[in-house]
Amino acid sequence: MKRTIKDLVNLKGKVVLLRVDFNVPLDEGGKILDATRIKNELPTIRFLTSKGARVVILSHLGRPNGYDVRKSLWPISIYLSKNLKCGVSFSPTVLGEETRERIKLLKDGNVLLLENVRFYKEEEECDMKFAREIASMGDIFVNDAFGTAHRKHATTYGLARLLPNAIGFLMEKELTNLDTILNNPKRPFVVVLGGSKVGTKVKILERFIEKADTILIGGAMAYTFLKAKGFDVGASKVDDENIEVATNVLNKASELGKKILLPIDHVCIKGKDPHPIVATNLRGNMVGYDIGPRTVKYYAKEIDGAGEIFWNGPVGMYENSNFRNGTRSIAEAIAISKAHSSAGGGDTVAMINLFNLGKKFNYLSTGGGATLEYLEEGTLPAIEVIQEKIQ
Ligand code: 3PG
Repeated sequence: MKRTIKDLVNLKGKVVLLRVDFNVPLDEGGKILDATRIKNELPTIRFLTSKGARVVILSHLGRPNGYDVRKSLWPISIYLSKNLKCGVSFSPTVLGEETRERIKLLKDGNVLLLENVRFYKEEEECDMKFAREIASMGDIFVNDAFGTAHRKHATTYGLARLLPNAIGFLMEKELTNLDTILNNPKRPFVVVLGGSKVGTKVKILERFIEKADTILIGGAMAYTFLKAKGFDVGASKVDDENIEVATNVLNKASELGKKILLPIDHVCIKGKDPHPIVATNLRGNMVGYDIGPRTVKYYAKEIDGAGEIFWNGPVGMYENSNFRNGTRSIAEAIAISKAHSSAGGGDTVAMINLFNLGKKFNYLSTGGGATLEYLEEGTLPAIEVIQEKIQ
């Protein structure tokens, strides 16, 4: 068990460097389009400020190449001011005298948000000189940036090597939930996996073949599996390089007595005709874009009988409303099931929220790549480096 902020004592007057993941979508004018990650961070900030800590927040936003006003964290400091009762200020720099001065001026229980750490190339290089300079401004490091914990960067990994440290509430919740899925799932454990490329999902598939009872496959990935099984998929998108990988996954599942289910019908487009049709078999110039209504029923039955459900990846090309029904129906089936349900992955969670079904899930992970990597590896670089709890 990792040390958490509850294990920290005498926080009053201490400068806590808190790494969070405020990588949220903003529009051109800096309006926050989805504040979920920020909302989920508030309990940790409130806990630290209630103990009298001086909280200095570090985050990245996007993948900027040097300074980029569109990737500034300034709009997030406005959000924090509106949603926290304590004083919130913003520093347009991460390093330098000006930042040090602002930290000196911080009162107990107040918050200072620093500018985007990725404006400095040293962040992603995990430059320890850069990390040491930041560490010298604080007393304790708290990592609550689960969504970025798969990155070995200066403020996710480097700082933990330099300061006494702990994880925050958001990170703790993520780990508890994901560890339960990995080590103690309710049975039957049903996993819904979508997305386009088999190659990017191989590790997680292998992991779930061991842990889950049934895997329901959707998205373009399904066509690669269907082709691997010898079905005609027409002109559907196939990840040809990974047909053999798909065959191996199917063979391993059957050796272990696990079920991998594939779509039995499709919503598809035939040639240049723009109108989608439903087909049981794809052939010729037919391109599948979503699971069909019989597949929805077939998958919903498995979901209904599940004890535990984990979902990653839309099961169709949901960006186009003609091909969104499969993903919506899966979300609805999970929402009404009695199983313990979780979902992870940026697109998946965004879809669930778009359907207004977020509250019907037991857990929605704030991570995208981090969630998948944690499920694959059982740990992440920025978590590994955090001190263990003293029992
Ligand atoms: C995410 O949104 O998945 C995290 O913030 C990590 O972002 P990155 O993929 O740019 O490192």
